[in-house]
Amino acid sequence: MFEIAPSLLSADFTRLGEQIREVADGGATILHVDVMDGHFVPNITIGLPVVRSIRAMTGLTIDTHLMIEQPGRYAAGFAKAGANMVSVHVEADPHLHRTLSSIRDAGARAGIAINPATPLSAIEEAVQHSDFVLVMSVNPGFGGQRFIPSVLDKLRRLRRLINDRGLAVNIEIDGGVDSGNVAEISKAGAEILVAGSAVYGTADPAAAVKELIEKGTRWV
Ligand code: DX5
Ligand code: ZN
Repeated sequence: MFEIAPSLLSADFTRLGEQIREVADGGATILHVDVMDGHFVPNITIGLPVVRSIRAMTGLTIDTHLMIEQPGRYAAGFAKAGANMVSVHVEADPHLHRTLSSIRDAGARAGIAINPATPLSAIEEAVQHSDFVLVMSVNPGFGGQRFIPSVLDKLRRLRRLINDRGLAVNIEIDGGVDSGNVAEISKAGAEILVAGSAVYGTADPAAAVKELIEKGTRWV
């Protein structure tokens, strides 16, 4: 499995529908939606009404990445608003098992997001209750940051852990993905690659998605 998930954070919000159609034309199958609350991260973005509007205009998979405090209060709400994937940060939630269950009960795939400085041991117990792990390769809060190279080793270790246990858990990577590192990242074990500025920071988002898919799968 290899999929590019354009992050709407870097899109032009005045013409969101058009920008979504552009990445679909380029071959994107997942839309990554960054939800920030100004507490867990120093930035505020979008919430439920926007997810509902996107749901109404596209058949693409909607992947909501909750960078918020107390995610257990809101996670199921995002699934009910139409998200197909909902991830919550391990650093923000002392009741991860309960929150993941609430997401699944609401009909979405449940993900654990983990910051660059958080060790994999923090998710060792919970990973078996998740459908995917979102590995942050920048510090969450903003688009356009540089990929942190040491995360590649973490990716490999997570891939090994998942394979050794025979789990059906996908790995998503988020932050600093571009056409120069996409092959190395997918080789390390990531299957869903989020790309914000590398897609929407270009003049032709459809072509940018195409190039990422081409470069990311060429090594296989
Ligand atoms: C950062 C967000 C990312 C961001 C990625 O906190 O979680 O999804 O949009 O943007 P790029 O690809 O520009 O690093
Ligand atoms: Zn994200």
